[in-house]
Amino acid sequence: MRVVSGIQPTGNLHLGNYLGAIRQWVAMQDAIPAGDDCLFFLADLHALSQPVIPAELDANTTEMAATLLACGIDPKRSILFNQARVPAHSALHWILGGTARMGWLSRMTQWKDKAGKKGETQSVGLFTYPVLQAADVLLYQATHVPVGEDQKQHLELARDIAVKFNTDYGDTFALPEPLISKAAPRIMSLRDASAKMSKSDPSDASRINLVDSDDLISSKIRKAKSDADALPEAVADLAERAEARNLVTIYAALEGSTPDAVLAQYAGQGFGVFKPALADLAVATLAPIRDRLTALLEDRAAVAAVLADGAARATTLAAPTLAAAQRAVGLQV
Ligand code: TYM
Repeated sequence: MRVVSGIQPTGNLHLGNYLGAIRQWVAMQDAIPAGDDCLFFLADLHALSQPVIPAELDANTTEMAATLLACGIDPKRSILFNQARVPAHSALHWILGGTARMGWLSRMTQWKDKAGKKGETQSVGLFTYPVLQAADVLLYQATHVPVGEDQKQHLELARDIAVKFNTDYGDTFALPEPLISKAAPRIMSLRDASAKMSKSDPSDASRINLVDSDDLISSKIRKAKSDADALPEAVADLAERAEARNLVTIYAALEGSTPDAVLAQYAGQGFGVFKPALADLAVATLAPIRDRLTALLEDRAAVAAVLADGAARATTLAAPTLAAAQRAVGLQV
């Protein structure tokens, strides 16, 4: 079993990242014996697919690494690093660029959403982004990739690339399996339940950031869109109430229970009761993470040392697969 996943070091980590991905990372890390089986990285190269402010990218990389540590990633059990420090990612990305097809990439919904009608003006990196993502996981022979639902299509593409490469040049890569959180596959915006909670939403009120103060968390939940009805007894009755469903999903994911169990507790109550309870639960979960993060950021050199050590270990693990891929296509290196 080899678990690999990444996160872009742009902006803050939010509740969608935490419930959809990071909590699964920590659970998997804690479930398997310490060793070389879990690799988690800051996808700083992916961040370059959009314009960046260099000093911000640099600072965000350290801060996002500290946030992952605060969430429970343990550098003794997992390998934590930033992608740019392991040049094998870029090297394999180029090789896989010969295998991926333009048509496959054109069908990626993330590309279509982000590029819209302005594809011609987007960076080449935004288009080839999923090829780098395929390299990220294939490089380590990943078997399990814990991600939110929005990344599923990219993982399917990684499998397609691996299958074609293995067919064309001989068996080189394991086929990675996306692991989508059952509790929180897609946490939605607090302002618009038809959009996912996202770092790129211009409204900060749409998301709960892991650095938000207790008061800010409570006020964002109080102001979250909901409706005037009482909560029902069954999840099926939330089918037409996207905002209510999202808040119940968040409660259940935070509590580690199920939406049905939450409704059993709150059926018949309105949001005047439910929202303060949700705010208390969110604060109780996130405040300790924020406190650990504050402490970690007092020693940025220690965080940098974790990343340097992780990169050294990842480089060693990546080398045999990169060499095999290079040999398979006939490159002399
Ligand atoms: P990124 O940085 O957008 O998000 C990191 C992780 O958080 C999940 N996520 C969510 N889950 C539930 N609800 C949400 N609202 C929500 N928003 C984000 C994402 O699905 C992801 O798991 N391309 C990736 C980073 C990446 C990567 C990889 C991931 C680069 N290489 C290789 C896995 C394997 C990205 O931009 O995720």
